[in-house]
Amino acid sequence: MIDTLTIKTTKAGHSRLAETDYTDLPFGKVFTDHMFVADYEDGEWKNFEILPYGPIPMSPAISALHYGQAIFEGLKAYKQADGGVSVFRADKNFARFNKSATRMAMANIPEEVFMQGIAALIDIDKAWVPAEENYSLYLRPVMFATDPVLGVRPSSTYKFVILANPSAPYYSKPLKVKIETHYTRSAEGGVGAAKTAGNYSRAMLPTVEAQAEGFDQLIWTDAKEHKYLEESGAANLMFVINGKIVTPEVRETILDGVTRDTIILLAKSMGTEVEERRVSIQEVLDNIENGSLTEAFAVGTAATVTQISELTYEGKTYQLTDPATRTVSTGIAKKLNDIRYGITADEFGWNW
Ligand code: COI
Repeated sequence: MIDTLTIKTTKAGHSRLAETDYTDLPFGKVFTDHMFVADYEDGEWKNFEILPYGPIPMSPAISALHYGQAIFEGLKAYKQADGGVSVFRADKNFARFNKSATRMAMANIPEEVFMQGIAALIDIDKAWVPAEENYSLYLRPVMFATDPVLGVRPSSTYKFVILANPSAPYYSKPLKVKIETHYTRSAEGGVGAAKTAGNYSRAMLPTVEAQAEGFDQLIWTDAKEHKYLEESGAANLMFVINGKIVTPEVRETILDGVTRDTIILLAKSMGTEVEERRVSIQEVLDNIENGSLTEAFAVGTAATVTQISELTYEGKTYQLTDPATRTVSTGIAKKLNDIRYGITADEFGWNW
């Protein structure tokens, strides 16, 4: 049974929508007029509110700042062909949010708080959902520890916030990527499968260094041997080898991507075979060289389906096929877009 939340609403005095330039929407920079907030205190969730988007006063001692008990999700709302708005696979993001919370020893959130928070925020800010193809309203639920205590232990209080950005696609062009063999994103027994803040901060220096060398992104490899491919930046990885989609299997070092799962289900429904297994660097390089690897792409909520044009390993660059010739990933990406924007029937029941 899902309870109906009582949400207190304070409307923004002035909407910033009219002064927002929808021809210039860099990912994650522009926020809608409102946000949803809730607090966990005394063992329960309370204080459900829609507030004008803005600063939240906090003690500088909150343990999220010191010890990184912070998790988030990313999901998107799309303007539908019939004028409505729908959110894509929110149930998957909800489930993963609590999985991340459990791994980080944080309170879990009830389904009604996550879902009704999203619904209330979209309801009040629906005029902000962009209509252009590939644009969406990116939703960012985040939870962080708020005990103002420097002792290292799980917080007893948390804040849950949902923000919304009208956003362009995260990447604007095919990526040149470097296979990273020194730095590590995640090891067995670590937190790689959790969507937690520290997984992103630890990636920053390696990514900045790769960018200084002329790359757009990294591909992470396993921590033990640096022999197997894991994921790329903030997205999962896929290849087309001999006509089949081959993708690193989800394990405790890899985020269980919602877009990854969606692409796999769509590919299978469209008759493309999918192999989820360990993928070695050597296998990928051999198949580039013998011409069997015809597509490489990154998949994620922010990234959607982003083509990879070049791979570099230990200083040697491998030029991949022209992204314009890639029919498998572009066919699936088109079907995905058609479902998300309500152009084609949602046979999987993904739109909410
Ligand atoms: C998403 O795809 O929603 C992500 O979380 C990536 C983001 C860190 C840019």
